[in-house]
Amino acid sequence: MVYGGDYNPDQWLDRPDILKEDDRLMKLASINSVTLNVFAWKALEPEEGVYDFGWLDETMDRMAEQGIKVILATPSGARPAWMDKNHPEVLRMSADRVRNLHGERHNHCYTSPYYRRKVREMDQILARRYKDHPALGLWHISNEYGGECHCPLCQEAFRDWLREKYHNDINELNHEWWTGFWSKRFSRFDEIESPAPQGEHAIHGLYLDWMRFVTHQTKDFMNQEIQAVKEITPDISVTTNYMSGFDGLNYWELSEKLDVISWDSYPAWHHSRISDVEMGARVGFYHDMFRSMKQKPFLLMESTPSLVNWQPSNKVKRPGMNILSSVQAVAHGSDSVQYFQWRKGRGAAEKFHGAVLDHEGSEHTRVFKECAELGKILKSCKEIQGTMVHAEAAVLYDYENRWAIQNLNGLSSDRREYERTCMEWYEALWRHSIAADVIDMTQPLDKYRLVAAPMLYMLRADIAGRIKAFVENGGTLVTGYVTGYVNENDLCFLGGFPGDGLKDVVGVWEEEIDSLYEDERNSITWLDGSLSKPSYPVKDYCAVVHALENTAVLADYDHDFYQGMPAVTKHPYGKGQVYYIAARTETDFLTEFFGRIAEEISLETNAGLVKELPEGIHIAKREGDGETYYFFLNFASEEKKIVFYEPQQFTDLIDGELFCKTELSLKPFGVKILKK
Ligand code: GLA
Ligand code: ZN
Repeated sequence: MVYGGDYNPDQWLDRPDILKEDDRLMKLASINSVTLNVFAWKALEPEEGVYDFGWLDETMDRMAEQGIKVILATPSGARPAWMDKNHPEVLRMSADRVRNLHGERHNHCYTSPYYRRKVREMDQILARRYKDHPALGLWHISNEYGGECHCPLCQEAFRDWLREKYHNDINELNHEWWTGFWSKRFSRFDEIESPAPQGEHAIHGLYLDWMRFVTHQTKDFMNQEIQAVKEITPDISVTTNYMSGFDGLNYWELSEKLDVISWDSYPAWHHSRISDVEMGARVGFYHDMFRSMKQKPFLLMESTPSLVNWQPSNKVKRPGMNILSSVQAVAHGSDSVQYFQWRKGRGAAEKFHGAVLDHEGSEHTRVFKECAELGKILKSCKEIQGTMVHAEAAVLYDYENRWAIQNLNGLSSDRREYERTCMEWYEALWRHSIAADVIDMTQPLDKYRLVAAPMLYMLRADIAGRIKAFVENGGTLVTGYVTGYVNENDLCFLGGFPGDGLKDVVGVWEEEIDSLYEDERNSITWLDGSLSKPSYPVKDYCAVVHALENTAVLADYDHDFYQGMPAVTKHPYGKGQVYYIAARTETDFLTEFFGRIAEEISLETNAGLVKELPEGIHIAKREGDGETYYFFLNFASEEKKIVFYEPQQFTDLIDGELFCKTELSLKPFGVKILKK
């Protein structure tokens, strides 16, 4: 298990005493990995063409001596001032066509030939220098790629990308972008500009293609960095660190050449409006998505041992939470726990961001002690590394669909909530400790028994055909309102939603959709009385739908002109079935509803061994090499008791003891890792 984080000795070169302390304290915390060099370009190349690798050589050697592996970053995430001054083309241009000044980070042009050449050069110098170094463990390509550049070079590259996509045929583009509307037909590709606040922002096809281009160009830039190091170190794996919630890049598309997915997790635990249980589900969603991208273990590249410094209110993690949230990552398939950062700097933007080592500097802080305790825990579950999570269920969450829903004119502009809805549907499974993958529309469906696909507004990558085959062959699909409206370029399907042949699979025709004001509610009645409540509130969206032949109506609307019309339906199709939820419900309904479906189709749940799953407990499982590891995680701030059906024979990995009991108590934010 990789345990460590971002380490910036380049900021402490005048303090050899501190570097020495780092060695001592890293050992004390069982740190076995550091991420070096993330923003170190200026330290490596103080002036154009003048290099200084002394400090990095020394650090690499020092880490090797300590038995610590280095995750070595390429420094392209931030540039020295001389570069921006000498070569202003590297500076990003914003959507309003204003060129950035030098400053901040993560803001270069992805097209600039100079920057591409310079980055390749730097990456290769690093690769040649450290290719045989015993400390080199993994390449960390750049840092949190993101953002877009609208400079003339990027405009030209965008037009070339469009020419290729539309076979050099402007009429094909005009058709797909529906440019007959508002006199927008283009005569030539060179009339096209990227979306701009003071220019074009009403062609959805243009917007979608621009977002795809940004992913393409970033990927091209990243792949060039990957190639630069792979030419010299073909056996060293590469990763780049992804962000949760970020929708500027389609990470699925970006991931092709990465050996391992890693991500940076900064949830706002102990939030006044979001319970830790709910937050636990949201974080689980990201872990599961990043695991699903390669269908193999991922790395938690960054997290904070305590607080961040960029939330509106920066709460410290309560005692136990750092261990819980870190073990949660492992439970969902991470082979690492890493922090930003090892030691708080004395100045600049992140001096008050949490770190293993505080400005105080000793091992006597609460945070350090918890980090050291976690270090021991991770050591004791070393054997879990490489094992996998197996899921019979998947939640479909698609970046391009998110762009399309976000950009469309219609629905409620302030409550599209596509990602949130995917998370809520995921949470319904998570609350039953049902393992789930989180996949996008390009991924195969046939290995799952249940696919939950909310708000599938855009149908791309032949998803309609693959959904049809999935259900025909016995799969269970759950979908609902705002499904099957448009094709990949945002052109509406004709003949009734859900389109592209899905209407007959889903068994409903969505004729209209009503958007509710924020404080408005309707409700739905569960018709056969088999759920715990007779009726459930619905909000935001109520689709007015007709059940087609053979479709059973499970719930109907209580109010408005669509009172008595179908609100939840079930349609048998081939060997499988489709459930459809016409309105946006609360999570308590979803939890009951998915629990019922899971029972009906005997979906595997990790809660299978316990009599009753207490609120706030999530049980996860990793398997491999004939071993099974159960993770019992308590997201509640009270002690919880779990009762097994029968006495269990486990080994407690944390204390190494045999565990043969019928009951398990978990303290607030407590964890237990048991091997079967
Ligand atoms: C991101 C960056 C880090 C640091 C942290 C702070 O994840 O990659 O460099 O800024 O945020 O939370
Ligand atoms: Zn540019």
